[in-house]
Amino acid sequence: MSANKKILMLPGDGIGPEVMQQTNRVINWFDKNTEVGFDIEEELVGGASYDKYNTPITDEVMEKALNADAILFGAVGGPEYDDLSFDVKPERALLKLRKDLGLFANLRPAIVFNALADASSLKIEIVRGLDIMILRELTGGIYFGEPRGIEKLSDGTRRGINTEVYSTKEIRRVGEVGFELASKRKGIVHSVEKANVMESGLLWREEMQYLYEEKFDHLKLSHMYADNCAMQLVKDPRQFDVIVTTNLFGDLLSDISAALTGSLGMLPSASLGEYNKQGIRKSLYEPVHGSAPDIRGTGKANPIAMILSFAMMLRYSLDRNKEADLIKKAVGLVLKDGLRTADIFQSGKTLVSTEKMGEEICNRLDRIAN
Ligand code: IPM
Ligand code: MG
Repeated sequence: MSANKKILMLPGDGIGPEVMQQTNRVINWFDKNTEVGFDIEEELVGGASYDKYNTPITDEVMEKALNADAILFGAVGGPEYDDLSFDVKPERALLKLRKDLGLFANLRPAIVFNALADASSLKIEIVRGLDIMILRELTGGIYFGEPRGIEKLSDGTRRGINTEVYSTKEIRRVGEVGFELASKRKGIVHSVEKANVMESGLLWREEMQYLYEEKFDHLKLSHMYADNCAMQLVKDPRQFDVIVTTNLFGDLLSDISAALTGSLGMLPSASLGEYNKQGIRKSLYEPVHGSAPDIRGTGKANPIAMILSFAMMLRYSLDRNKEADLIKKAVGLVLKDGLRTADIFQSGKTLVSTEKMGEEICNRLDRIAN
């Protein structure tokens, strides 16, 4: 039997620790009931780390992150950190992890669960059965481009600068991931940029097209401007299968697609690096929702996005598709049985707390595993 997998758990701030606790329950269930075993280490990150160490992530934790088989990340940030300078803001920890671990491919699936189709703000006939994958480039573009900064001008006013920059290599490596994902899905890729106004967007479009013609022309590739994509997502989201896009556009479009599904509290994500010579890649799994400080400690947080992030870890880092499917099924069952956390509550359903939701998901796991 293979050795236990080393998981670094970084709950972070706000509702991060609460949803992580319920994920821990699910992990313990797998530890107890299956042959998949885990060695878990838990560390501070974000504001929680800043409060104790004056930095959003310490060198020791970075070191552990580099050595883990996979990272489970909760959420970071809160209003008490708003006035901190950029280099120590909680979000910096996440950006540093993404950059230093080379996590260039961010998979953000947006799935409408049958039981929740009427929770979307869009009409049910537009979102029913929706299953799209937003693939966001995560280590380049305007988030990291140089030059950047705020400079003083001679007239006493200031100028803020950020730079959108993409190279052939950065575009092609995320493009490859996109085409490969599509080849296991419906085979449709939309490459999204603003080639009509940005040179980096034009390069993106051209490189995606070349890559397609070289290796993937058995699939279907369309190019789309980001603004049009935003509109198409709310008009007719089911035309999409895989959307491959830049860091900033991916940030925006993934929030839109999250909202289509009825709740941000349902959506997991995976951030993946390049394979090394041993065929292993760095990976971090986190819910798409943030730290939601306004509901911290109220039992209103939905742990499903975090639990599904763990399922993505099983699938993409540990090659455990069967176990990942088990979690998806258990989540489908609690929803079918009418259990709802506050974010997805509708009249006639049963309102449950964060903790109860975690417990019930484990009960469903018991039921379907035996
Ligand atoms: C996300 C978040 C982050 C981002 C923040 C917290 C830095 O919005 O993961 O979508 O902008 O990438
Ligand atoms: Mg975002």
